[in-house]
Amino acid sequence: MKRLKSVFSPDGQTKFELEITPRQIFYRVFYNNKEIIKNSNLDIKIANLKSPKFDLKSFKTLRFDETFELPWGEDQFVRNFYTEAEFKFEKFILKVRVFNDAVAFRYEIPKNQETATIEDEFTEFNINLDSTCWQIPAFMPDRYEYNYEAIKLYDMEGSVHTPLTIKTPENLYLSIHEAALYDYGSMTIKLNGENILSSNITPLSDDTKAHVKLPFNTPWRLIMIANSAIDLTKNRVMYCLNEPPKGDFSWVETLKFIGIWWAMYVGEWTWAPGERHGATTAHAKEYIDAAVRLGIKGLLIEGWNEGWEGNWLENGVNNKFTVATPDFNLEEVASYARAKNIELVGHHETVGFVDNYEAQLKAAYNYYAANGIHYIKTGYAGSQIVINGKKEYHHSQAGVNHYQKTVELAAKKKIMLDIHEPIKGTGIERTWPNLLTREGARGQEYEGGALRPSHACYIPYTRLLAGGMDYTNGIFDITNSVKRISTTLARQAAYFVAIYSGMAMAADRPFMYEEKFPELFKFIKKVPTNFEKTVPLLGEIGDFYVVARKDRNSENWYIGGVTDQDGRTVKFNLDFLGDGIYKAHLYLDSKDAHFRDNPYGIEISQKRVKNSDTLEIYMAPGGGFAIELEKV
Ligand code: NOJ
Ligand code: CA
Repeated sequence: MKRLKSVFSPDGQTKFELEITPRQIFYRVFYNNKEIIKNSNLDIKIANLKSPKFDLKSFKTLRFDETFELPWGEDQFVRNFYTEAEFKFEKFILKVRVFNDAVAFRYEIPKNQETATIEDEFTEFNINLDSTCWQIPAFMPDRYEYNYEAIKLYDMEGSVHTPLTIKTPENLYLSIHEAALYDYGSMTIKLNGENILSSNITPLSDDTKAHVKLPFNTPWRLIMIANSAIDLTKNRVMYCLNEPPKGDFSWVETLKFIGIWWAMYVGEWTWAPGERHGATTAHAKEYIDAAVRLGIKGLLIEGWNEGWEGNWLENGVNNKFTVATPDFNLEEVASYARAKNIELVGHHETVGFVDNYEAQLKAAYNYYAANGIHYIKTGYAGSQIVINGKKEYHHSQAGVNHYQKTVELAAKKKIMLDIHEPIKGTGIERTWPNLLTREGARGQEYEGGALRPSHACYIPYTRLLAGGMDYTNGIFDITNSVKRISTTLARQAAYFVAIYSGMAMAADRPFMYEEKFPELFKFIKKVPTNFEKTVPLLGEIGDFYVVARKDRNSENWYIGGVTDQDGRTVKFNLDFLGDGIYKAHLYLDSKDAHFRDNPYGIEISQKRVKNSDTLEIYMAPGGGFAIELEKV
């Protein structure tokens, strides 16, 4: 005996179908009457639980429609519009939400006992294997920091991370991801024994997937759907599947910051104390003064604490987060910053030694809070993290819970976070707006050989579907011999628009902005970190991306574009602008610019435009552009 139930999106275009047999349940997804996900198994395995039959006890549906506001981000208002269905079985409730542009579902395990060990989850995504996907491998030493590669699904080896973006032979664009990842292993994707795309939940060191208290809801399994690559980047369903904030987060503010940082990467300074130590009291004061002159609100200081001596990647087990190096006086620097109205961004590099960090967590956050420091960048360099003496994956349940602990403690102390080597984004910043940004992909620290011009052209269609990223933008010293950058100069300004981040770093040393390229820096100074509206304009995965965003606090718009190793001309109209005249400030690659041969080729100009105008912009190989549209 089998039963069939269908759930339609509000516009009727997307259909989720559940087939129930006593031994198994399967779902299928249809989009515009095309079956895009075929028969796919849904189940979880709970330890010591003999699986009961799939006997549908109740079924109900509801329609939901609300528009909510985000305190910061790419869009101020998000419409949360779906049909929900609840399938109640003895083992779990399957909750399904069908949006016009996505399908999501989760398992809700009832409280039949106090706790449960999840041994495995069997969620399939039976998508045509002849599709192309853009993937980075999971369970690798550099976490999420890999180059995206396009492969056919049938060539997938091992497990890959989500968001997993897919283009089907019918030219539909899908991205498999998850939302509201709490207290559970993160979902990676692999081909299972039957050659069907399926979940592979990150295991704990004891080889189970999670130990949970009941009742328990798994994260949402999310499939975003779009007709084009650029439309995929408009999807905001991940945020819809997260809860509104509990408590007052009105103190949260996005931030642009410079840092005692790139000087270490180009070998001028060091993290560790010594002759060329970066984080000295004197350097910090100089950088604070520079931030004031540049009109940048924040300053990150790395290498200020004990633990960087010698091989810091190996010695990090002893890092002290409340003890400054002898040449760095935190109290003095913090009070200097306060007097100059500069926000310091503190730094905790745990090197993955989470036990060591957690033992100091409260004291470390109190120390910064007591010194009026409201922002912390954390880091988990290291191929795995050490929790309770055991090596765990960053993206395991143990890791997920640790990151969550930092977010909640930070919220209590009114501290905002930028997490490097993080757990991937699943939209929890809707609930915890103090989590302003993450890294979680290869950023510009990999320049100097390991970044291709195409890299930033994959990011908007893959990594950014998981939320903002601290890409460490604005490196103007392109031809530095230690770290040669693989972009044009104009492209470095484009990043501030193309790669959204609630905390955006202008990563180069101040003299590059003040003395070398002050004209281009004007754009970086003005570009906001909080937008009212985002209008993705043009692009293809791995080739190029062009996006327009409206400032949340003015009538001004900002446009950024990036291209791969091929130069190209893009053409778009400005119909997103309001009425009236705008003064366009254009920061463009020159005709002869080239990321390798002529990276500094830039043309800066102004002209007047209105919403009936069309712009035609040339991007050089490895280049990009930035435009400010200032309302007059
Ligand atoms: C890796 C981070 O991504 C980078 O930003 C930081 O400077 C180093 N770790 C050292 O903490
Ligand atoms: Ca990193």
